[in-house]
Amino acid sequence: MTAPLIEHIGILVPDLEEAIERWSAVTGYTFSPIGRYRTERYADHSDETPHHHDARISFSLEGPPRIELMEVTGTGTHGPEQLGIHHLGIQNVADPEGQRELLAAKGVAIDGCSFDAEGRILLMFTDKTFLDGIRVEFISPLPGPLVADDGSPLWRDPVTGKASLWGAPAQ
Ligand SMILES: [Fe+2]
Repeated sequence: MTAPLIEHIGILVPDLEEAIERWSAVTGYTFSPIGRYRTERYADHSDETPHHHDARISFSLEGPPRIELMEVTGTGTHGPEQLGIHHLGIQNVADPEGQRELLAAKGVAIDGCSFDAEGRILLMFTDKTFLDGIRVEFISPLPGPLVADDGSPLWRDPVTGKASLWGAPAQ
């Protein structure tokens, strides 16, 4: 099986609106409206019990690899001491539970994991200490808990159920 390519590069920033301006100015990329990855079931080193996590995010239109800008939140994987290049994102990992076991067998821990209501992994980050301070993010094909910045629902693809920060595609 061919190893999956990196779909996006996640960067943790102190102020999202200001970061979008800076990253747009330098790259010429267009960034999406701001959304939130909002869940009550996120576990990381700040609290291994699934807890509230509300990360404001924006993705570039250009890519892959797209650029994901994320605003600091909480005291764990997205806390203020984690600024800068944060993770390399891989999408549509069909069996994240199996992937977690494969990683564990190689001595790679997970720090940062989002679960759905059934306890299935929606996304997970490798512990940053294993790869020189950078995490790899494995994202399940299952729809994630994305909402608009004001908390309202986003348009979702009727086939995949995945939310889009860009709204419904133009007809
Ligand atoms: Fe990401």
